[in-house]
Amino acid sequence: MIQLAISRLLLGSLTLLLAGTVWALGEVKSGYDYVKDETRAMQDDDFENPGMLAVEQGRELFSKMPDSGKSCASCHGEAGEKLDVKSLARYPIYDKEQGGIVRLEDRIRNCQKDQASTEPVPYYDHELLALETFVRNLARGEPVNVQTDGEMESLLKKGDELYHIRFGLIDMSCAHCHDMYPGQYIRGQRISQGQGNGFPAYRLDTGEMANLDLRIKQCLTLMRAEPFAPDAEESKLLEAYIMSRSNGLKIETPAVRY
Ligand code: HEC
Ligand code: HEC
Repeated sequence: MIQLAISRLLLGSLTLLLAGTVWALGEVKSGYDYVKDETRAMQDDDFENPGMLAVEQGRELFSKMPDSGKSCASCHGEAGEKLDVKSLARYPIYDKEQGGIVRLEDRIRNCQKDQASTEPVPYYDHELLALETFVRNLARGEPVNVQTDGEMESLLKKGDELYHIRFGLIDMSCAHCHDMYPGQYIRGQRISQGQGNGFPAYRLDTGEMANLDLRIKQCLTLMRAEPFAPDAEESKLLEAYIMSRSNGLKIETPAVRY
């Protein structure tokens, strides 16, 4: 019953949307430009930004010595200063050795397994999210710079296709909301271009951190579609495609979003 009511509500707002003006996607804009002034102010002030808590947790985990193996800091510097921020801004990357797309969270898990000789933290675990937030925050202010040529070209094309496929009971694609209606409101939320430069981000709605994978999952649930597994090929393709759309936008991690 409740689900039906929600889907009615959703369909109702969508009909309203469709009756409105169709906005063409011109300039690439961060989700930052679509949130309320108060939310922007919260993001801009490190003492107010709730996402900074995850950065701090990540920093602690980074230098924590695991029961067996090595700490991240022992190889990458106490504050991660040996990591190259320009290189971090390129994620997700194509990795020849892994034979496909590697996201930041995959890279961290690979390091836990192959370098630190520890058990990789499961996807969606708070610790992995905190580590990802800490590492990505090192590159805050760097423009997103995902590779678009070479091996990435055909993979991004597949991501582009997924972005335009209709999913779920409401039979819409990602592009329906994020390409056609940025600036319009749906259930009190202002639709943005669905960019990835703010992630992992703090969500006021859930009171939790979400990385890009989780955010996509939340949209698929909104579309009443079955979310992809965190390490599914579809998740990686969609994320790489979204981040390539964000090329040139400054990394905001941890952004604050509705
Ligand atoms: C024994 C040393 C060692 C440990 C411990 C280690 N790493 Fe790494 N890490 C590496 C090496 C070597 C590379 C680069 C080789 C590669 O790309 O696989 C790397 C690559 C990375 C990268 C990608 C950097 C880039 O520019 O692409 C990230 C992010 C990273 N590590 C994070 C972590 C985190 C987080 C931890 C702790 C959970 C960790 N590493 C533990 C050695 C280590
Ligand atoms: C019914 C409309 C709708 C559809 C369809 C939809 N989304 Fe969203 N999405 C939203 C709303 C509303 C938000 C929150 C406001 C915003 O940032 O746009 C959001 C937020 C996002 C964000 C976060 C943007 C930011 O800067 O915080 C991403 C990324 C995203 N969506 C990706 C997707 C992907 C990928 C799909 C397809 C699988 C999709 N969305 C489908 C409505 C939709």
